[in-house]
Amino acid sequence: MIAFHDVHKTYLMGETRVDALRGVTVELPERRLAVIMGPSGSGKSTFLHLAGCLDVPTRGRVACRGTDLGSLSSRERAEFRARSVGFVFQKFNLIPNLSAARNVELPLFLGNQPTAQAKRRALDALASVDLADRASHRPAKLSGGEQQRVAIARALVNDPELILADEPTGNLDTKTGLRILAMLRGLVEKGKTVVVVTHNPEIAESADALVILRDGAVESFSTAEGRSRP
Ligand SMILES: Nc1ncnc2c1ncn2[C@@H]1O[C@H](COP(=O)(O)OP(=O)(O)OP(=O)(O)O)[C@@H](O)[C@H]1O
Ligand SMILES: [Mg+2]
Repeated sequence: MIAFHDVHKTYLMGETRVDALRGVTVELPERRLAVIMGPSGSGKSTFLHLAGCLDVPTRGRVACRGTDLGSLSSRERAEFRARSVGFVFQKFNLIPNLSAARNVELPLFLGNQPTAQAKRRALDALASVDLADRASHRPAKLSGGEQQRVAIARALVNDPELILADEPTGNLDTKTGLRILAMLRGLVEKGKTVVVVTHNPEIAESADALVILRDGAVESFSTAEGRSRP
């Protein structure tokens, strides 16, 4: 579904040039759980941002279901993101002075949904992560695991086909992390394509496809079938 072909991403910070991705070619399977691993600074978040069309490559091609994302105008890219992509950020990125429900509604306003419908869908999304009873809480009044579930509800509220999660269990205890993992698995069972950046070996173990990045390049790619073979 998501195909990277010789993708390079270079960040320029004044005089300093950082080659965050250097020639990544990989295909992630559709309707499956793919996991991205690698040391800090290896390019995992950069990879995820490009997969979700949050950013564009410096060189090379990123295609989603055959559509070259680089061929889209910035407006078409924004539409693609709003319609097809749910992003769970490395830091939850919730807006502190808005309730859980209002945070989850936000992506719907960008698509100009009527308010009553947006509210209902936000509550449905919160219910799907077992947080219906926290809808009016602000983020500061929620635990880390609850904040992460609100961030997941926000990513799901548009019913996107592609869900990208950047270390969604990074700051959570093991039990809460496993619960988030079960939720991501459930999404795959509903036919979604899920890509997760994680350092958690248990999540990696359960992945249908595993990409290990090092220094901005693919160090290894494996599938569940390949790993279970003797
Ligand atoms: N917006 C940016 N401007 C400049 N450099 C950046 C930017 N984003 C990332 N980088 C650099 O690109 C490299 C890859 O960063 P990236 O965030 O993709 O790594 P990562 O694998 O997600 O690391 P971590 O595990 O710490 O989150 C790093 O050296 C980082 O400093
Ligand atoms: Mg990162």
